[in-house]
Parts: sequence; structure tokens; C-alpha cells
Amino acid sequence: PLPERFVVPLPIPPVATPNEAGRYMLTQRESDVEILPGTRTRVWGYDGVFPGPTFDVRRGEPIIVDVRNELPAPTSTHLHGGVNPSDSDGYPTDVIVADGHDFDPGAGSHMATDADQWRLHRGGREYEYPVEQPAAMLWYHDHRMDFTAPQVWRGLCGMFIVRDDDEDRLELPSGDHELPLLLCDRAFNADGSFKYPSVDDSLLAEPGVTGDYHQGVEGDVLLVNGAPWPTTSVDNGSYRLRLLNASNARRFELALDDGGRFTQIGSDQGLLAAPQVLETITIAPGERFDVIVDFSGHDVGDRVVLRNLLGTGAAAEVMRFSVDRAKGTRYRVPKRLSEPPAIAVEDSVGDRKFAFALTNHEHGQMWTINGKPFDPADSLATVKIDTVERWMFSSDFHHPVHVHLGHFQVLNRNGKPPAPEDAGWKDTVDLRPYEFVEVAVRFSGHRGRYMMHCHNLEHEDMAMMANFDVV
Ligand code: C2O
Ligand code: CU
Repeated sequence: PLPERFVVPLPIPPVATPNEAGRYMLTQRESDVEILPGTRTRVWGYDGVFPGPTFDVRRGEPIIVDVRNELPAPTSTHLHGGVNPSDSDGYPTDVIVADGHDFDPGAGSHMATDADQWRLHRGGREYEYPVEQPAAMLWYHDHRMDFTAPQVWRGLCGMFIVRDDDEDRLELPSGDHELPLLLCDRAFNADGSFKYPSVDDSLLAEPGVTGDYHQGVEGDVLLVNGAPWPTTSVDNGSYRLRLLNASNARRFELALDDGGRFTQIGSDQGLLAAPQVLETITIAPGERFDVIVDFSGHDVGDRVVLRNLLGTGAAAEVMRFSVDRAKGTRYRVPKRLSEPPAIAVEDSVGDRKFAFALTNHEHGQMWTINGKPFDPADSLATVKIDTVERWMFSSDFHHPVHVHLGHFQVLNRNGKPPAPEDAGWKDTVDLRPYEFVEVAVRFSGHRGRYMMHCHNLEHEDMAMMANFDVV
């Protein structure tokens, strides 16, 4: 049976604390936590918690994160949306193997089987994050070759907030009026353990999912910050909700059941130039929306449910706000939020096309980009640093396309204007079946090898990834 909705209080993940200025330590380990009331779930968590600790850092203050791995399987940590050196980007075959554990990429049917396609770090490694990017909510998660989906499902994900002076000037709702909300779905066995259709539960040899799950794995329990259908107490003022869809494959269409609107102030990569009012928000895996909601029309005792219009039954509801206090402060959203540099499309130095599609391949059907399953030794594009290119993504299914390092603006969908959800600087765009989406993408900050991929994590594990090189 599914747990009762709107009973568990909304948890807020702990904030990561540096052990000395600019240095953090993060240990990936197993722990048993209570997700469904009355049961224990074994999670793979950063510092043993799910979601992992939230980083709260400032632009211009670089950090180093010393990530340790005590899990039985290798890991690679990617900061999604980060403008980071290639070596710290969490490349799928650049992994940490725990002390006392062995990992042989040649055993089993890994996509990359040559030892020289791998870099193995023993026990842990440091990731360098320069944090030279505008205020935004990024997130970090596992990115291990062939096994990202089951490892994120087990809990390896967390939020990462960048702040800066430009954002501070807006005096947005803050403190307990700023709620980071990591949305995802999971399925559970009767004993409380996570249920996931892995071919090989050890996650060591055989990648992939069984049966009919190649389109992606969805669970019947919706979690916010790791709690099932939580409830939170609010006053009748304005709140800043920082929404992240961290699901493997589920898309949400969010709406408030009181008819309230979302005033969107930011996208994946930070503040919009001007706010936009949305009745619903369609959010695909990997995307973030920064919104203001206002409960000022409510009396104490009112309840507002965040609904999911794409879900049925229990999955049609996400969480509940319980208006418990009067005298809340109403935030007036300024007409101008920022001066994000408009991307100079006319300066585009290249046009490329990337087709995301299921294709027949020697190993059977695979999710591919331009007909090719991922090959760590191959690169689909070489781009010049500090240039803009027009990239056309096409799709045969729902594919949330994510580009590492490069940030983009959506130019059009099927030749028509972008969707409201496409506004602002993005790093992930929701492609719907048979769509063509054209973006202007800029590469800056670092040279080296990066990747793009489908952020449906089962598609990603089934080879829907490609390298590109920034030179
Ligand atoms: Cu959020 Cu390459 O991933
Ligand atoms: Cu996909």
C-alpha cells in the first residue's frame, strides 16, 4: 500500500559545511533511513543522506570537494550545470573505487571495456569547482558509466545553490521562505527497500534494466526532498520555490490546486531578464525552475496542494502547503530581474544537428545520438571556446537533452516560438516526441572534453550520450 499523503513533514536537506575555507568533504556511503513511515530503506547517500547535503556557495569563491567513496560500486560525481574544468566534470569512466573493493571494467558487458578508457581513483578524489557563474540552482549526482540510473535511484543526488550580489539586490524571499525542492519518484518493495529493475543488483557487471523498462523507470511514490508527499507549514506570504526534477524518467506538470500562479524568476542557469507568470510548469528530468508563489489570498487553516497534471491516482499530487500563520510578507516581484547577456545568434560559427533516437545496432536496439551509441573514444563535435553555435536537436520520444559546460537559449521548437518553459539560460531542454528544438549554445570557461546526453537516466545508461571537445 502507498503511504498516506500529506503526513510526513517536508525535510530540508542539511547544508554542506566546509571543513576549512573553500574545502568540503563528501562521503558516499550506505545508510538505512526512514522514507516510508515505519520502514527502513537502504540508501546510497552523499554523507549517507538522501538527498545529499545542499551546497550553498557564492560566485567568485572557488571550492574544492573531496569526494570519498565507501560504496561497493564505482562512482563519478557530476555537478549538473556547473562551469567546471573537464577533469572535475564527473566523466562517466573517471571513477572512484572504494578501498577494499575491486572493479574490472573488462568483466561484464560495459560499454567501455578497454582499460585505457578508464581512470580509477582509489578511495576518493578532489573535484575543483571555480564557481565563476551567475547565481542559480545546480545539482550534483552520480554519473557512472552504464549505471547512473540505478545509482541515482539509490540516492546519489543533491542540490547546489550559487548566490551572487546581483541576486541579493532583489531581496527575494529567503531563509525559511526559500524552499529548495528536489522532486523525484521511486518504487519500493514491501520491506521498504528501493525497487528498481536492474539486470544485476550488485551494479558491478551487467548494466541495464529488465523487461519493458528501456523507455525509462518510473516509481509510484512521489518524493520531495526524499519524503513521500510531504506537507509543510507556511504563512500567508510569498515563498521562493526552487524546483528541481531529479527523477530518472518522470516528467511533471506542476500546478497549484487553489488556482494560484507561479511567477517564474529563474531557469536552469539563473535569473530571467523579466518574470513570467505561469499557470502550470512542465518540468523534465534535470530541469530547474525558480518561482515565487503567494499565499496571501489564504486564511489560516487553508491547504494548498501542489499537483502533477501528468500523473494519475496518487501521482497526481506532489506535496501540500498548510497555511498556518497570518501576517506573512508579500513579495513584489520587480519588473526587471537581471540583464542576462542576450546571445548573439548572428555570431554563430557553426550549425550542427543531433538526432536522439532509438536505432538498431549490433547489440540490439539502443538509444543513440546521430545513430551512434556512446563511445568514450569518439567525439561528435569540436567547438571553439567563447563561440556560439546553433544546435538542432531532434527526437523520436521524450528526451530531456542536457549539455555539459555549454549554456543555451532555445530559439525555436519545430520552427515555432519556444515554450514558456524554455525561457532564460538553460542547460537542459525537454524534447517531446518528434520535435525539433533549435538552441544557441555558448561554450566558455574551460577547454577539454565534455558531453551531452539524454537526461532520461535509463536512456543515458543505454548509450544516449556523446562527447564534444572544446578547443
Ligand atoms: Cu545531470 Cu550529465 O548530467
Ligand atoms: Cu532519452
